Amino acid sequence: MKKITIAIDGFSSTGKSTLAKQLAKHLGYAYVDTGAMYRAVTYYAMEEGYIDDNHFDEKALVNNLSNINLRFVFNADLGFAEMYLNGQNVEKVIRTLAVSSKVSRVAAVSAVRAKLVEQQQQMGANKGVVMDGRDIGTVVFPDAELKLYMTASAQTRAQRRYDELIAKGDKVTYEEVLKNVQERDSIDSTRADSPLVKADDAIAIDNSELTIQEQFDKVLTLVASVT
Ligand code: C5P
Repeated sequence: MKKITIAIDGFSSTGKSTLAKQLAKHLGYAYVDTGAMYRAVTYYAMEEGYIDDNHFDEKALVNNLSNINLRFVFNADLGFAEMYLNGQNVEKVIRTLAVSSKVSRVAAVSAVRAKLVEQQQQMGANKGVVMDGRDIGTVVFPDAELKLYMTASAQTRAQRRYDELIAKGDKVTYEEVLKNVQERDSIDSTRADSPLVKADDAIAIDNSELTIQEQFDKVLTLVASVT
């Protein structure tokens, strides 16, 4: 079977990463979670004091982009790669609501996007990759053989994210999570650079009513049709 590029885009918490991980494992492909890269840059900006709830020194972040080294390191126990920022494992800390509430402002900065898109294109240069994000089918790999655009209602997505955060021991309310999901949807789809839009040739999948297995089976049929 020939190796292809699978691009998965969609709003936050649409189950992109669950599907991407399943596909990568099944096909023996690499999985690249591009959201983790934007989250790691955001975490860096928070640690350096460039961004908090009320201010964002975009210039300072842009001037220091060359100091940010991002790497995915495969963890065999978990079965997927974890995000490292300048040698530190940041996989857990980048998933907190504190990072989620700032990441869309950071991801709207063109210089940040340019740096990360270049790395993503290098990681997928040899195909055999499943990459998820917001602009994979439109900007990073416009020629991907299979493009999926995932959707689900904001309430369904907020409930999923809330359950995940609570399971990890985070103290959050459903309302806070829903507000964050809606805010990110709005910023991600209206920003000037690479807004989240469905690529013309992407296949839309609304998984509000699909089980994980049903969704996986449906997508495997799509994969088979292009390989
Ligand atoms: O996928 P995840 O929800 O972890 O992404 C976090 C944020 O990173 C998104 O809300 C979006 O602002 C940004 N992002 C992006 N482009 C991507 C992936 C993520 O702008 N390709």
